Amino acid sequence: MTGDPRLVVISNRVAVPKARGAAGAQGGLAGALHAALKDRKGLWFGWSGEESESGRTGHIDTQTSDGVTTATLDLSQRDIDEYYNGYANSTLWPLFHDRLDLAEYERETAKGYERVNERFAELGAPLIDAEDIVWVHDYHLIPLGERLRSRGLKNRIGFFLHIPWPATRMFVSLPYHERLVRTLLFYDVVGFQTQEWLESFLHYCENELRAEVDKASGTVTFEGRTTIARAYPIGIDWEHFSKLGENGEARQAQQRLISSTRRRIAMIGVDRLDYSKGIPERIDGIGRFFDKNPESIRDLVFIQIAPPSREDVGSYQEIRAALEQKCGQINGARSEVDMVPIRYVNRGYSHAELFGFFRGAKIGLVTPLRDGMNLVAKEYVAAQDPEDPGVLILSRFAGAAAQLKDAVLVNPHSPDDIAHAIRIALDMPLDERKRRYEKMIATVRDDNVQNWTRDFLRDLSEA
Ligand code: G6P
Repeated sequence: MTGDPRLVVISNRVAVPKARGAAGAQGGLAGALHAALKDRKGLWFGWSGEESESGRTGHIDTQTSDGVTTATLDLSQRDIDEYYNGYANSTLWPLFHDRLDLAEYERETAKGYERVNERFAELGAPLIDAEDIVWVHDYHLIPLGERLRSRGLKNRIGFFLHIPWPATRMFVSLPYHERLVRTLLFYDVVGFQTQEWLESFLHYCENELRAEVDKASGTVTFEGRTTIARAYPIGIDWEHFSKLGENGEARQAQQRLISSTRRRIAMIGVDRLDYSKGIPERIDGIGRFFDKNPESIRDLVFIQIAPPSREDVGSYQEIRAALEQKCGQINGARSEVDMVPIRYVNRGYSHAELFGFFRGAKIGLVTPLRDGMNLVAKEYVAAQDPEDPGVLILSRFAGAAAQLKDAVLVNPHSPDDIAHAIRIALDMPLDERKRRYEKMIATVRDDNVQNWTRDFLRDLSEA
């Protein structure tokens, strides 16, 4: 990569080395950005995840590990409440995941969001050299590009949205929606996970903002500036992940799963504990399967790994309580002294352990109600034994469904559909499992995170 300009990545969440054991807890963004940066010796700037007043004095903590230099700032409690728990995760996240019922519109948190974005610009701008290429990530930092430009930065600046972009009729419920989109058009390139989210964005630009949209070239022209807007589906770090099978930790995890489930067939779900992931709906589907197939109850076990997330946000506390109750109900009604149908685990595991669990599970259930991409779906496929692959049951509402068409696609809202998909998966002959796996693995291998980075940065440098 010598000769390339330095890459500066800016995101709210930074994968600090000490947190790397909890792959599931960090979500896809942190892992993908770590992979994208590690070959380029770039700089990664963002929130430390810590609360203190030191960010106000301009203190930035810098460390280098695995070739990645991270520069992080702390946020004050007020900033965390208004910007992270508030506007980002109680307004934008639910709205962008079609949960208008959960979206809160508070002036104070909107102001906090702008204030923290300004803070990121103030502390970030001095870290950026004139030749650097700057790549901003996700819904926490939409206005950052415009804030950096207002400080005179002339660099190429790109933005990637890791979550869906909502339909225009939903998006316009956001007060000052136009202001948010105007700031997006200060970037040189704006990337989305799928064609569907891109089209929703272009629809807004054309019909609400009255910008000039050229769908063929993927550009939006507004007030004299042109922004490239395209879909760049994110992938996994194939090089790294596919080799985890050789790792002792992965083998041990697989063995642990197999020996603890004895002859039962293991089904697995791994998600941050988030209402967008459809976990209670998934459990309902499993309950429905048991209702219809009571003779199967001793042959199956469902393992749900769900590390808690955003624990200070009310809707996350509610989903956690609802899920605990649901798992308790099903297990109470269906367990025997020597058998529990659902194992519900509130902790994160390393990538190697997850690899082992995925390989040991004959069915992977990835059934979000809405999801930008979902890398767990891709990791499940990548961890399978090519000679005896498991079956992926995937929500049609995950961005990944546009690529993994050979999964068993389901409507995650329908318990009957999920129950039916489990039946299909259990009955699927080996040759069909292999055929589907081979098609999916080609996509997972080729549309990997390195190619995602390459494609986005190529457009950004040519912009
Ligand atoms: C999703 C978001 C990321 C976020 C991750 C984990 O993947 O797109 O921006 O980092 O969830 O959530 P958290 O709030 O813990 O950063």
